[in-house]
Amino acid sequence: MHFNTLLLVISASSVLSFPTKPQPIHLPLQFIKSKRLTKRDIVVPLIEDVDLSELAVKVQIGTPAQEFLLLFDTGSADTWIPSSECSPSNGCPAFLNHFNTSASSTYEALQDEFLITYGIGSASGHYFKDTMSFVINDQEKITVNQQTLATVNNAVGPISDQNQETDVDHIILDGILGAGLPSGTVRYLQDKGPKYDPFPISLYKAGLIPNPVFSISMNQDKGKLILGGIDTEGISEKFVYTDLVNSSSGPSRWSINVEGLQFHNHKAVDKSRNFKFNQGTPFGIDTGSNFMYLPRALANDLAVSITSNGTFALNEDGVFTIDCQFQSSLDSVNIYFKSSIDHNNTNINIPVSQLISKRDSDGQCLFLFIPSDDKFILGNMILRQFVTVFDFGDIPRIGFAPSKFPPLLITGD
Ligand SMILES: *[C@@H]1O[C@H](CO)[C@@H](O)[C@H](O)[C@H]1NC(C)=O
Ligand SMILES: *[C@@H]1O[C@H](CO)[C@@H](O)[C@H](O)[C@H]1NC(C)=O
Ligand SMILES: *[C@@H]1O[C@H](CO)[C@@H](O)[C@H](O)[C@H]1NC(C)=O
Ligand SMILES: *[C@@H]1O[C@H](CO)[C@@H](O)[C@H](O)[C@H]1NC(C)=O
Repeated sequence: MHFNTLLLVISASSVLSFPTKPQPIHLPLQFIKSKRLTKRDIVVPLIEDVDLSELAVKVQIGTPAQEFLLLFDTGSADTWIPSSECSPSNGCPAFLNHFNTSASSTYEALQDEFLITYGIGSASGHYFKDTMSFVINDQEKITVNQQTLATVNNAVGPISDQNQETDVDHIILDGILGAGLPSGTVRYLQDKGPKYDPFPISLYKAGLIPNPVFSISMNQDKGKLILGGIDTEGISEKFVYTDLVNSSSGPSRWSINVEGLQFHNHKAVDKSRNFKFNQGTPFGIDTGSNFMYLPRALANDLAVSITSNGTFALNEDGVFTIDCQFQSSLDSVNIYFKSSIDHNNTNINIPVSQLISKRDSDGQCLFLFIPSDDKFILGNMILRQFVTVFDFGDIPRIGFAPSKFPPLLITGD
């Protein structure tokens, strides 16, 4: 992959003077998948566990640039960073990078307040506009002017709870990069304010990437984000696409309608079992979560089917423990949805072996689907099986293709 350095350092406003077609941008995503899971952490934030995912991307904000490492989150649409006024007692530990608005000559304050709540935690502060860049490497970056962002003066939850001393191997995240859709920003969705374009969409509208898509691959210990293109080298089969859940103001989240799940027993088809929904049920496709979240009854029925004799237990942390021999299961779970192309039912397939993780602190095996009150989410531990395409074109949709480099099983030491 060769980049035209000139093109990459120019700003959005001057792009028209360079007729060169932009190329997709490849960025590494730092992804620690097993270390934290095997520690106490699986037991802690079982909902919207933004601190476990650590699908991190480096950005620069302001002039001169101030650098941040942000969680790349398809489950939210607003990007926020701690403000230099946010103290440790307000949830911004000193080891986080803080954004000093007075030190940026391109900073523009906005009136709108910002308040976002996650499954666990929240962040509040103010919206502003400033220059924002993805850092490609030491020499190259790709920059949008006047990106709408938020600085946070008060935070509660996983970003605040990071601990530099005890979290060995923990990459410290400074904030969150919301890679969602304009209709999903809290300013629009909750506060009825104007829509704005989240950063990946701004890159496209500024002509800095060639197509209105990004794709995410999580191979083993590294992730890859391609902006404006698709990781076609990393797939073993074709993509299947499905449209986003729509609403009167258009799709607001990276969320797809699922028609049902199927437990597929590879030897005894009569032991396969269908869990068909009465109607399309929205599933969030969320890189800011780790696990698959299902309503309790469904999660339980799936566990019963997979273990056939019902030897599983819900432990005190709300996670199913099972016999580790299921790590070599040849059965699978299919997730059904309607194809964007012909509207026929199609599916993605997740081997049962990939739905199980062994915790090395106690050797217990756990299912990666977690019973919840009413959540339907596919998080990183599921998405790592696929190259996932997030297409924000005229008819927004998500595509999945099985990864050619499936993750290593997490089997402990
Ligand atoms: C923020 O930047 C201004 C201007 O450069 C500087 O005077 C001030 O000390 C900085 N504040 C912090 C908290 O670093
Ligand atoms: C979403 O729904 C709105 C309102 O019903 C409609 O105008 C629009 O075309 C739909 N968009 C998509 C992508 O289906
Ligand atoms: C249930 O099945 C598991 C896995 O096949 C096996 O390890 C276990 O011994 C069985 N338990 C009973 C009570 O049959
Ligand atoms: C989709 O469904 C239609 C109508 O049921 C059928 O004729 C067609 O062959 C299906 N397409 C594929 C690719 O299976």
